[in-house]
Order: sequence, then C-alpha cells, then structure tokens
Amino acid sequence: MTTDPSTGRGRLPLSLRRRPVPWDRQRPTWREAKPAVIAAALKRARARPSGNWYVVGASLQLRDDRPLARTVAGQEVVVWRGGGGRPVAGPGGCPHLGAPLRDSPVRCGTLVCHWHGLALDGTSFAGWEPFPAYDDGVLVWVRLDEAGGEPPLDAPVVPRRPAPGRALSAVYVGVGTCEPEDVVANRLDPWHGAWYHPYSFVDLTVTGSPAVSATDTDDGFTVDVSFKVAGRLVVPVRAVFTAPGPRTVVMRITEGEGEGSVVETHATPLGPDDRGRPRTAVVEAVVAASGRRGFSVARRAAPLLRPLVRAAAGRLWRDDLAYAERRWHLRSTGRFPG
Ligand code: FES
Ligand SMILES: [Fe+2]
Repeated sequence: MTTDPSTGRGRLPLSLRRRPVPWDRQRPTWREAKPAVIAAALKRARARPSGNWYVVGASLQLRDDRPLARTVAGQEVVVWRGGGGRPVAGPGGCPHLGAPLRDSPVRCGTLVCHWHGLALDGTSFAGWEPFPAYDDGVLVWVRLDEAGGEPPLDAPVVPRRPAPGRALSAVYVGVGTCEPEDVVANRLDPWHGAWYHPYSFVDLTVTGSPAVSATDTDDGFTVDVSFKVAGRLVVPVRAVFTAPGPRTVVMRITEGEGEGSVVETHATPLGPDDRGRPRTAVVEAVVAASGRRGFSVARRAAPLLRPLVRAAAGRLWRDDLAYAERRWHLRSTGRFPG
C-alpha cells in the first residue's frame, strides 16, 4: 500500500486501517459542527430556486400500466408514462366523482378511471389540469406551482451526474415525520458521520466548511472519510456536499474510488399526517461511477462501489430520518438549541 503524503491516504482504492480507533476514542466533532454554520448553509440552500419542481420517485417506478401516486405538499398526484413514453402528471382525483386515480390502470398511455371509465391522456379534460412532469433518467419530478409559490422553471435543477453508460444507479425512498428542511439540515451536518454511523463510516474529517457569510461559489463541505467494507478494510474517499436547491443535497466523490459518483438526497413534503404533523419523503439517488478498466454496468457486484450504494440505504437513512425527526420535534416545541 502506497500512501500519498499530502492526504495520508492510500492511493490504492482499498486500505487496511492499521490502528483502528475505537468509536469512543475518536476525536469529538461537536466543536467544529457549529450550529450557526449549518443554519447559514441551510438558509442559503432554501433561498435557491427550485422552480416548483418536486421529486416524486424513481424513473424505474414510472410504468406504462399503472400510475405512480404520491401526495406532494398535500396534493394528490399521479404520474404515468403516456404516449411515446413521456411522463404525464396530474391531480390524483378523478374529475367526475373523485375516484382515486392511483388505483386506476393505464392503457396505451391513457389513464382509465376504474369507477366509470373516464379516460385521461394527459391533456386538460373536464376540469382535470395536468402538471408539468420531467423524467431525468434516474428520478421523476412534478411541478406544482401553487404549492411551490416560486417563479416556475421549465425544467428542474438536476445535479450533474456521471454518464449513464459508466454508472450504476439505485434509488432509496423513506418517509419521516419532519419537514424538508430537517432532512437538508441533517445532510449539511457532515460531522455526525463517523460518530452516528460507525457501521458505515470511519476516520471522518471535515477539511472544509463554508463560512457563515459564504456565497454560492464557495458553498460546500469537503469531507475525507472512509467507507467500511469489512472488518478493517475501508475505501477512503474525499467527498463534497452542496445544496443546489432548497430541498436537495448532493454528495459528490471528488477523489478516491468512484470519483465522480454522486448521492443526491431530495426531500419532498408530503403533507400532514392524521395528527397534523408534517411528513416528508426522502428520495435518495446514488449514481455510482468508476473509472476502473473493465467496469461496466453489468458488473453490478462492483465490490468497491457497493459500500457507496449501500451507504444510501437502509440503516443509514433510518438513523438520519431519526435525526431529522428529532430536529423537527425540537423545533416544533421551541426547544431546538441551534
Ligand atoms: S369517478 Fe372517475 S369516471 Fe366516475
Ligand atoms: Fe447521516
């Protein structure tokens, strides 16, 4: 194993941690994780335009035989593949007598209401007005101008991703009792990684964070971290976190295995639950790339990318949703210390 003296990290993708530091002996990060820095980054993120676009799910969920249904900002929405495979979206209630269109089938690009057969082809009909929809190849977006209240944009702000031919993608969806800002705030706190997720991350150092007065050009968190593979085997990477929109945080691997890979976290407000508490969906897309010779999408077992893909799913987000829910709970009861 050779080590790059400037970073202290191995140039080979896999490293063996020589002297693993026990969890409770690692350096505390709370002094650097300044609430004001996180709050200022969150404020800047929330001021960026979304053009009223909301992520509703994965492109793979968008089918031509039944709609993808979601409540977004309290509004029932259905999306399906219309004629020619283009995404079509609109309100989730039938304009006739209100049948839930989420349970209606799609036939030849037309959504056919299962109560009395009213057919919707994605154009305005009988008071049913479509919403603009967008399929970026990984995620599906819907534009809700009334809910967003911003000046609309023709297309969503889609983060730069590795070319599809050299990437493998996975999408994780979870739901929590919180608002989108709580999900974004969790991602703008990279300092919690090795403490809160020791099963996935070790040796985490935030090497750069934006000043409270940062501008758009210097607004990112740079993190050196190792993904755990097995035992003492780790994949060290450098990652940069940015928030290109009010409900999106992107982690981009800028050095190390999977360079250019991105993990996009999108927070979509769903609406209140039966107790009036806000519900938010986390739609996380991992678009993992490798510059290795011989890498192909068909090699889904690409062992060095698996930790990255896995990092986005399951236990990690259960814990991060617990963080976001806790933050919302404290905020809503006036007890948030930040
Ligand atoms: S409720 Fe849909 S056709 Fe009657
Ligand atoms: Fe986390």
